[in-house]
Amino acid sequence: MSRLQQKVVIVTGAAVGLGRAMVIRMAQEGAAVAAFDVNDGEGQALAAEQRERGLDVHYWHCDVSREAEVAQAIGDVVTKFGRLDAIVNNAGVAGVSKPTHEISEAEWDFVQAINVKGVFFGTKHAVPQLRKAGGGSIINLSSIYGLVGAPDVPPYHASKGAVRLMTKTDALLYARDRIRVNSIHPGFIWTPMVAGYLRDGGAPEAGHAALAALHPLGHIGEADDVAWGAVYLVSDEAKFVTGAELVIDGGYTAR
Ligand SMILES: NC(=O)c1ccc[n+]([C@@H]2O[C@H](COP(=O)([O-])OP(=O)(O)OC[C@H]3O[C@@H](n4cnc5c(N)ncnc54)[C@H](O)[C@@H]3O)[C@@H](O)[C@H]2O)c1
Repeated sequence: MSRLQQKVVIVTGAAVGLGRAMVIRMAQEGAAVAAFDVNDGEGQALAAEQRERGLDVHYWHCDVSREAEVAQAIGDVVTKFGRLDAIVNNAGVAGVSKPTHEISEAEWDFVQAINVKGVFFGTKHAVPQLRKAGGGSIINLSSIYGLVGAPDVPPYHASKGAVRLMTKTDALLYARDRIRVNSIHPGFIWTPMVAGYLRDGGAPEAGHAALAALHPLGHIGEADDVAWGAVYLVSDEAKFVTGAELVIDGGYTAR
């Protein structure tokens, strides 16, 4: 229960899904957690619930695709907690699932603005604070869709491939500052994003079974499966881990 004692961690896209699970696990492990999201209702409720349980969780409205909001919110976190030790660049959207030749420029840009530029802004404004703290951890949410192809969501695949290599470049750039930068690559995990993906596909129950079958372990993952990976990468247990791809996918990419 104390793997992250005295650490201050930001999680973006924290109101629901993987972000929410990470906030709870990190706070339970002793971190002070700043939850960033645009879903203020769910975000505020999450922070209030966790504080009632005695955990140190606070919510900030922050659209990761807007640099001024990211800069302001990270500054506010450091003012409140006095330091920053880690950021999880988790906020992401699935975007449209259409063949590439049917996608509009606006549909393409929408996904890149959140999934790619959001990671850039989070990293850009966290690095000076992590340097001041003498080092830290940056975790970027890529995906199995940043490792292998599938015949769907082309803008999402592009974005997650970009995040994979942004992670490696930043791992090399900031190693001398003792800032570790790693990516997490989940398989399909049961969150509002995947529920929406199945709904858009038409037959959610058949879709659920088909998705489960893609994972050799035979089922879709749980948000906690990824949250524990993030706890590890923020913790000092991972002090020699940088530029790595932590694949949490029930064997999806092992074939
Ligand atoms: N669930 C999966 O199967 C899966 C698999 C691989 C990778 N991922 C990645 O993990 C991350 C989290 O996924 P999830 O399934 O929890 O998604 P989700 O849609 O369930 O939750 C995403 C959260 O991000 C927030 N968000 C969206 N746009 C934002 C913005 N501009 N600024 C700030 N917050 C914003 C949403 O309000 C929401 O709270 C994403 O980057 C996703 O691509 C998810």
